[in-house]
Amino acid sequence: MTANATSSSSKDRIVIFDTTLRDGEQCPGASMTFEEKLEVAELLEDMGVDIIEAGFPIASQGDFEAVHEIAKRAGDGVTIAGLARAISGDIIRAGEAVRVAKRSRIHTFVSTSPIHLAHQMRKTEEQVLDIISATVAQARNLVEDVEWSAMDATRTPIEYLVRCVDAAIKAGATTINLPDTVGYAVPEEYAAMFRQVIERVPDSDKAIFSTHCHNDLGLAVANSLAGIAGGARQIECTINGLGERAGNAALEEIVMAIRTRRDVMPYDSRIDATMLTRASKLVSNVSAFPVQYNKAIVGRNAFAHESGIHQDGMLKNAETYEIMTPESVGVKATSLVMGKHSGRHAFRSKLKELGYEVGDNQLEDAFKRFKDLADRKKHVYDEDIEALIGDEVASAAESIRLLSLTVIAGTGGAAKAIISLDVEGTHVTKEVSGNGPVDAIFNAIKAIVPHDATLSLYQVHAVTEGTDAQAEVSVRLEEDGKSVTGRGADPDTMVASAKAYLSSLNKLMVKRQRQHAQAVSA
Ligand code: KIV
Ligand code: ZN
Repeated sequence: MTANATSSSSKDRIVIFDTTLRDGEQCPGASMTFEEKLEVAELLEDMGVDIIEAGFPIASQGDFEAVHEIAKRAGDGVTIAGLARAISGDIIRAGEAVRVAKRSRIHTFVSTSPIHLAHQMRKTEEQVLDIISATVAQARNLVEDVEWSAMDATRTPIEYLVRCVDAAIKAGATTINLPDTVGYAVPEEYAAMFRQVIERVPDSDKAIFSTHCHNDLGLAVANSLAGIAGGARQIECTINGLGERAGNAALEEIVMAIRTRRDVMPYDSRIDATMLTRASKLVSNVSAFPVQYNKAIVGRNAFAHESGIHQDGMLKNAETYEIMTPESVGVKATSLVMGKHSGRHAFRSKLKELGYEVGDNQLEDAFKRFKDLADRKKHVYDEDIEALIGDEVASAAESIRLLSLTVIAGTGGAAKAIISLDVEGTHVTKEVSGNGPVDAIFNAIKAIVPHDATLSLYQVHAVTEGTDAQAEVSVRLEEDGKSVTGRGADPDTMVASAKAYLSSLNKLMVKRQRQHAQAVSA
């Protein structure tokens, strides 16, 4: 038995193999820079990913350098893998890239299905078997840990697949991956394939079996879990399900499905799930692939409730409508979205969150006006609600006003904002840089008006269509458990952002003064 094979004590541990930086980055439009790849790899390692497939070293010099650097920096708790076709030059290059890691793996693959053999490889079954033996042995001479993948395994006749896996294990493969390359399998079939291969290959206990599922029919996660039921113990997946075509199995969904339904899937992974939201945001930012609003686990609506019945239940006991806590995946709190479906209970709770304790009559009046407004308006903002109860904060006197703003941004380095503000009659100008133009503007405002409030929401809506659309920006600031939301509108999104930030800051000032006055008079 090799060091990597499944032992009885590790039977219930699922090895998480993340391929965001290889299969994920391979999808059109998702390429990442060298620095971005290092940042993602660092976060994956911190999160507890067992194996990071850092890239395809033969693909380009850039890919090689990124894999090499990630391998160099990785600690001893993570394995760094590099992908290689079943070609000698690929394997040598992958070996060079990953060998500097404390734990390194070469992942080599070849197609096994009749359609790939006939049209892509133009090789016979016997020729491919020889290629498997030679290339796996070559990789095994370079590193101890070799993964072999049967590309298009799910469309490969089982008899031939068994012979291929047998050849790979005999040549020294320590992990056997049976991918659903084209996302064609259904869960029962995928589980059965693993069961049959594991049963029929004489030395199958010398390797860990792995799933690798694409999402063409939306079954990638279900198939991966079925693969585990069939005997696999490694799952290949990506953050946000990024990957070729419809993507790969989403890491966050796999981890939380196993954790939440341990009763029917008695396994676990090493992943620190509280880092899932951070990982999702980072990958979405660097790949420029937005996360769909209703995406499981990490979508912005994953812990948001608008219906009155659900909000009422949530306020009584969160378990009524949530099967996992938002905190468990790194989301600060459930959000009750105020809209036309919200009920009184949620409305009162929202007022409380905004810092208002109102009597029953005032609540009843404000609630009627809120329902009326929600019927007419798509987004009901905190400030709309504040205005409903006639609070002066909603129309806060502007003690800080925007006088002028110039932003320099682009590919030439850090963004810069030169901003002039009128702060209670005094004009102040500052030039500050940031990680992008919005960050630079907010940093500049903070440099002129220092404060400890944290930014908890930044949202841009185009009010009209077209490139000259009016941008409407919302900014929420939080301080001492209370939040204020400001809005700014302008055809220039940067100006709208500055206005929105200042609007929240002005409200915060009024709120602070009011609390101070209440404390003094108490
Ligand atoms: O989908 C696939 O088959 C792959 C292999 C390279 C493992 O990505
Ligand atoms: Zn793939």
